[in-house]
Amino acid sequence: TEDRRASYDFLYKVILTGDTGVGKTNLLSRYSRDEFNPNSKATIGAEFSSRILVVDSHRVKLQIWDTAGHEKYRAITAAFYRGAKGALLCFDITNSTSFSSLSGWLASVRDNSDDKCCIILVGCKSDLKEHREVSREKAERFVKEHQLYGYMETSAKDSSNVEETFQRVLEHIY
Ligand code: GTP
Repeated sequence: TEDRRASYDFLYKVILTGDTGVGKTNLLSRYSRDEFNPNSKATIGAEFSSRILVVDSHRVKLQIWDTAGHEKYRAITAAFYRGAKGALLCFDITNSTSFSSLSGWLASVRDNSDDKCCIILVGCKSDLKEHREVSREKAERFVKEHQLYGYMETSAKDSSNVEETFQRVLEHIY
C-alpha cells in the first residue's frame, strides 16, 4: 500500500544553502525527481523533497530542504536549518561572488543546525567549466580552513556527482 511504501526507520533532515541562482533547486530536483529546469524561478522561503534509501536493510528517509538564497528571505531561512544533520553549502563555480558569500551562509548554518551537522561544500554547474571563476584548489582550501566534511563539484544539468554528493552526506550522518 501507499502507506507501507512511505514508511521508514530513520528520518534525517538535510538543507541546501547558498546564494540565489547557484543551482540549489535544480540540484534537489535532479536528485529527487531526475529533473532539470533551465528556466527555474527563485525559491520563495523554503521547499522540501524526500527520498527513501536503503542502508544496512534500514529504510532511511532524507528530507531535503531547499532554502531561498535571496537576501529578502534571509531572516526566515535560518529557521529551516534547525535540527539539520546535513548541509550542502552551495556556490556556483562560474560566480566568484557566490563563493565570497559562503562564510556568511556557513555561520548561519553553524548557529542554527544540529551541533554535529555534516557540512559539505558544493561547487555547482560543473558543466560550465569554461566559465569557471573559482578554482578547485580555492574551494578545497575553504574546506580545510573551515573544517568542513568535503568538497564536491556537481552538475544538475548533466547529473554529474549529484547522487554521490547526497550519498556522502548520508554515509556520514547514518
Ligand atoms: P534560489 O532559489 O533563488 O536560491 O536559486 P537556486 O540556487 O535554487 O538556483 P536554481 O536551481 O533555481 O538555478 C538558477 C539557474 O541556474 C537556472 O537557470 C538553472 O537552470 C541554472 N542551473 C542550475 N544548475 C545548473 C547546472 O548544473 N548547470 C547549468 N549549466 N545551469 C544550472
